[in-house]
Order: sequence, then C-alpha cells, then structure tokens
Amino acid sequence: MGKDIFILGIESSCDETACSVVRNGREIVSNIIASQADFHEQYGGVVPEIASRMHVDAVYPCIENALKEAGMALSDIDAVAVTYGPGLVGALLVGLSAAKGLCAASGKPLVGVNHLHGHICANYLAFPELEPPFLCLCVSGGNTAIVHVKDYLDLEVLGKTRDDAAGEAIDKISRVIGLGYPGGPKMDKAGQGGDIHAYTFSKTHMGDTLDFSFSGIKTSALNLINGMRQKGEEPVLKDFAASYQQHLSDILLENTLKAAQKTGIKTICLAGGVSANSFLRKSFDGASKKHGLKLCYPPLGLCTDNGAMIASAGYYEYINGMRDSLDLNAKPSLKLGGNNACG
Ligand code: KG4
Repeated sequence: MGKDIFILGIESSCDETACSVVRNGREIVSNIIASQADFHEQYGGVVPEIASRMHVDAVYPCIENALKEAGMALSDIDAVAVTYGPGLVGALLVGLSAAKGLCAASGKPLVGVNHLHGHICANYLAFPELEPPFLCLCVSGGNTAIVHVKDYLDLEVLGKTRDDAAGEAIDKISRVIGLGYPGGPKMDKAGQGGDIHAYTFSKTHMGDTLDFSFSGIKTSALNLINGMRQKGEEPVLKDFAASYQQHLSDILLENTLKAAQKTGIKTICLAGGVSANSFLRKSFDGASKKHGLKLCYPPLGLCTDNGAMIASAGYYEYINGMRDSLDLNAKPSLKLGGNNACG
C-alpha cells in the first residue's frame, strides 16, 4: 500500500463556496460548504456580481475550516484541485485565484477540474467499489448530459441538451408558479403526494440521438399556467408540480435507458443538483430493477455543489500526472469530453 494522497478541493462556480480534503480520491476527511442560496432567494435567482463578492468573503474561511476539520496544514496536502469551469466567470475566478495563491505560496501543484467531472466523481465518494466503465446522467442547473465514463479520465458525451438544462426548466417554472428560488428543492417538496398524471406537457423528439430539449416543455408548462390564469384559475400546485417533474424524469430516463441499451453498460450513475430530485430517483429506482441495472446516486449533500467532488476528480488527474500552471484561467463555457476528456 503506497502513501496516502490528500487533495484539497475548492469549488466556487455558482452560489456555493466549498472546500474539502479528500484521501485517495474516495474518502472525505473534511467538507465545508458555505451556501449563498438564502441570500439570493430575495432576487429569485443567483445574482452573479453578488455571488462573486460573497465568494470573496467566504473562500479563505472555508479553506481554513476544511484544513482545521481535517486536522491538517497546507504542507500535509499533496495538491490543490479547483473548479475552473463551467460556471459564472466572476465566481469561478474567486476560487481559482485563492487556489493559485495557495499553490504560489506553498509550491504545491495546481490541478484544474471541470465542474461536471466533479459531479460525476461524487459517486466515487459515495460508492467506494464503483469503477468505470459506467454511464452517468449529469443533471444540474446549467447542464444536462449522458456521459459514458470509459475510464477515470476518459469521458464521452453521448447526448446533451440542445437548449435549457433540466434544472433550468424546473427553476423557471418554480418561479412562475410562485414557489421561488431555489426552485428544485421547493418544487420537489410541493409535488409530494401529487397526481403525476393530472397535467400533460409537450415532448420534443430528438430523432435517433440521445440529446435532450427542455425549452418546449418549459413553454408548454408556461402556456398551461397562463391559459388557466386568463380564466381566473390556478393549477393545483401539488398535482402540477408532480406531473411536471414526472414528465422531466420520464424524458431523462428514456434517453438514459437507450444509452444503456446502445452501449451494453449495466451500471448507471446520477450526478448533479437535479439528481437530488425524488421523482427522478424513484423513476430510476424502478427502471433499474426492471432492467437489471446497477444504479448509484450520491447522498443529497454530494449531489449539489461541494468541494469533495472536486478533490476526488483532482485526485484522478493528479495521479495521472496532470498539472496546471499558475496562469490557468476560468473557462465559463468549459465542455466535457473531446481531446482533453475531463477538461
Ligand atoms: O449541481 P448544482 O448544485 O449546480 C450546478 O452545477 O448547476 O445544481 C443546481 C440545480 C438547480 O437547478 C436546483 O434547482 C437543482 O439543482 N436541484 C433540484 C433539487 N435540488 C437541487 N432539482 C430538483 N429537485 C431537487 N430536489
């Protein structure tokens, strides 16, 4: 057994400032998350400039607390991993600058991490025996993709959204029906016990591809709400929330099952904030039993943004010799896959 490797992971791509120490890519030693969600609630969504300023206030206390909770000093860390995209540019720059500062001062290596790769790696933290290959449905506020994880650093995007992300489709409708921000958890709670067949929404067919489109579904939900409001009526919140989330879950499941059939892969992972959704989890639970698939999804705290998933992704890059220079820049539109598979 070789020496343990400890990675400090820093995340600041949206409205969570987070820092964590992870051992050997799999074991969380400490995990600190400072969420701004309560603050942005009054604006109905994340205000990028405010998010950047709040990250500035939170980033060093988060790092200090993560090291303190781990009972470690920066000198005990092997490398600093940090999200450099995709995300809000101002927000990304705060975590990235902090990470570069730590590396410049300590001489520790810097490893830039693709936020989406981090979400996938949250599954390694939750399932110590999980190894590639597997399929991962990445569903978050800004992205929706089915990823073929061929190896730790070899990722292929099999299908992705051509317009809105699933999280966006939930957040926007949540605002319109008066639930506000953050839409995902509020819509999930509102739909509990509701009738999933009460309302119907349009479905966009993407031909033979594994791509998604959610903008039409969002518009059909908006039309339904506006049509009822013109008649002085309101949808029954519980039933509307349940039907809408079930409809989105069905679409996400359908393409993921097609991907499993196409690749012959029998292990499916879920990742990203929307993978916390109870309708989605229930649909995947049922389908995986029916089709004999192994299903993994992280606990709720590891579905949304955190530093541990960044440290885990950073670990696999670090042990494969990947390093970044101190002039690494934020990439707000960083993609997954391609030549540099994990960014
Ligand atoms: O992964 P994440 O924390 O940040 C991004 O990388 O985007 O995902 C945030 C998204 C938001 O759209 C939020 O509404 C959604 O995840 N979300 C949920 C739930 N919890 C968070 N969506 C549906 N149901 C939930 N329980």
